[in-house]
Amino acid sequence: MPTDFNQLTNQLPGLVELCRTYATEGRVASYIPELAHANPQTLGITLHHKSGSFTSAGESDTPFTLQSISKVFTLLLALMDRGEQAVFEKVGMEPTGDVFNSMLKLELVQPGKPFNPLINAGAIVISSLIGGDTPELKSQRILRFIRDLAGDDSPSFNESVYRSEAATANRNRSLAYFLKDNKVLDQDVEPTLEVYFKQCAIEVTCAHVARMGLILANDGSDPLSGREIVPKRYVRIAKSFMVTCGMYNASGEFAIQVGIPAKSGVAGGILALVPGELGIGIIGPALNDKGNSTAGVQLLKQLSEHYDWSMF
Ligand code: DON
Repeated sequence: MPTDFNQLTNQLPGLVELCRTYATEGRVASYIPELAHANPQTLGITLHHKSGSFTSAGESDTPFTLQSISKVFTLLLALMDRGEQAVFEKVGMEPTGDVFNSMLKLELVQPGKPFNPLINAGAIVISSLIGGDTPELKSQRILRFIRDLAGDDSPSFNESVYRSEAATANRNRSLAYFLKDNKVLDQDVEPTLEVYFKQCAIEVTCAHVARMGLILANDGSDPLSGREIVPKRYVRIAKSFMVTCGMYNASGEFAIQVGIPAKSGVAGGILALVPGELGIGIIGPALNDKGNSTAGVQLLKQLSEHYDWSMF
């Protein structure tokens, strides 16, 4: 049954207040020092329906950086720039069951090739595949793509978050050097990491992420103008990864409890979508031990149960 958007609009403020209590079970990420300033009690959501209606509740205007949510969109851009064969020569299609910045399986199972494009190792390789002769050009193309999907030119790089991550990213540097040593990464480590850190530092609001989700929910096209932004085939690939790897090593539990494609980021953002219907953007900076927003996941769980959103 299609979601009753009027009912949802009326219910949303109450649901946000109910789910906000779950924020106390999580902690704000601090391994990127600049992210530690976020208020753990923040919870905001925007839902954007294919009819053009949208609705928000809580602190949906709070700006946050995309972090790992960007990985879905750099995957799409790399697929559009290089094609499927070139992309999947470099990254696999399987979940790892490990934390997002794990090194374990890179060496253990299939030497060098990251399991999927949504873990850090895979996303770093994907950043190297984005078209453009310099890191600056690649970053500008990513930003332009995000603005196009968000339907707004205001998303920009948050320079403080970018610098904060670039100055402290020992783990990502280790992953990148390992990938370079295995010749999975063809380009130099530092310029590739510059692109990766910048995509993670693109600052948005819930309304932007909801619009980006709506385009994916609508198979890559703007439902109002009909304009294709991403080919349907690539959107299908991205949505499949969101279901199997989008919430990292909590993706199985999330599929059972919520059952829709989603992608989280360590700033507390979640991108989610109900296929054929709507896009969702959430911010809730308090994270569980798997790096997902505690209140945000709870909000999606309640909404999915109430409106029967599960795909399964
Ligand atoms: O590379 C990192 O560690 C961050 N820039 C992004 C990680 C992230 O968002 C994981 N998500 N839950």
